[in-house]
Amino acid sequence: MPDTLREAGDAPRPDTPGGRDSAAVLEVDGLCRAFGEVKAVDDVSFTLARGGSLGIVGESGSGKTTTARIVVGLERADAGRVRVGGGSGGPQRGRAARLARAREVQMVFQDPFLSLDPRTTVEAVLRETLRLHFPGRDHPARIAELLDQVGLGAREASALPRQLSGGQRQRVAIARALAVEPRILVLDEAVAALDVSVQAQILNLLADIRKQTGIAYLFITHDLGVVRCVTDDVIVMRHGRVVEAGSTAGVLADPRHPYTRLLLDSVPRPGWDPKHIAAARRAL
Ligand SMILES: Nc1ncnc2c1ncn2[C@@H]1O[C@H](COP(=O)(O)OP(=O)(O)O)[C@@H](O)[C@H]1O
Ligand SMILES: [Mg+2]
Repeated sequence: MPDTLREAGDAPRPDTPGGRDSAAVLEVDGLCRAFGEVKAVDDVSFTLARGGSLGIVGESGSGKTTTARIVVGLERADAGRVRVGGGSGGPQRGRAARLARAREVQMVFQDPFLSLDPRTTVEAVLRETLRLHFPGRDHPARIAELLDQVGLGAREASALPRQLSGGQRQRVAIARALAVEPRILVLDEAVAALDVSVQAQILNLLADIRKQTGIAYLFITHDLGVVRCVTDDVIVMRHGRVVEAGSTAGVLADPRHPYTRLLLDSVPRPGWDPKHIAAARRAL
């Protein structure tokens, strides 16, 4: 562990006798994944508290998406363990295992257009998801409730993805994920493609949903402003490794690792000097 790794700002969480963290909804331990020579994920460990929000930040190529894909079961790990909701972890294969994982962990991607069928209306998307996970509970009232939860109405319900704005499509993707009633929502650059004003609306919506439902977020972003808005704790990844971890407020106010400082310095602001940043990056 690098010496910059810090404890989260919260009080220690009670451990159960097996060494498990009973307050955790997700425990990731020693995750590794290589693609040929590239160590995309290199000994990554973190814990997400029940109803908590953990940010993963780092530049493009630092291993954030690969970590997320392993957590949701879309990618295998070479080593390490993912434990969801105090479950047993370990190898789980096949359709039943995938459904079981999907029920606990849902993912929202950067571009909802790619994950929505262009010929399926919003209403039908939600109906299909409910039918798959809760047979018999795909009734219109539940669909209306989900739409309401993400700030969409009857007009959007009958629309096709291409008839919606980027922000509305992302709301649909969030509603579809919530339909499954997961304990964890993994958001991978989920607001990165949106205009700043729409981004703020979606971030507020996500904060409200967390308050209402107690769902936990694993929030992946390259944007430190976003992390500040919606996470309690944060880990900073670089070249597949966690270089810093702690409470979001603590890490942003007092970054210990030079890479975290560089990320913070890279945020454009008055007096900002891109040449200085580029030189610091080369020196790192
Ligand atoms: N399927 C893949 N095949 C080969 N290399 C991959 C694959 N997925 C990711 N990588 C590589 O792993 C590294 C981490 O990628 P990724 O997890 O997408 O990072 P991030 O999401 O932080 O941008 C990058 O060098 C990327 O090129
Ligand atoms: Mg990515």
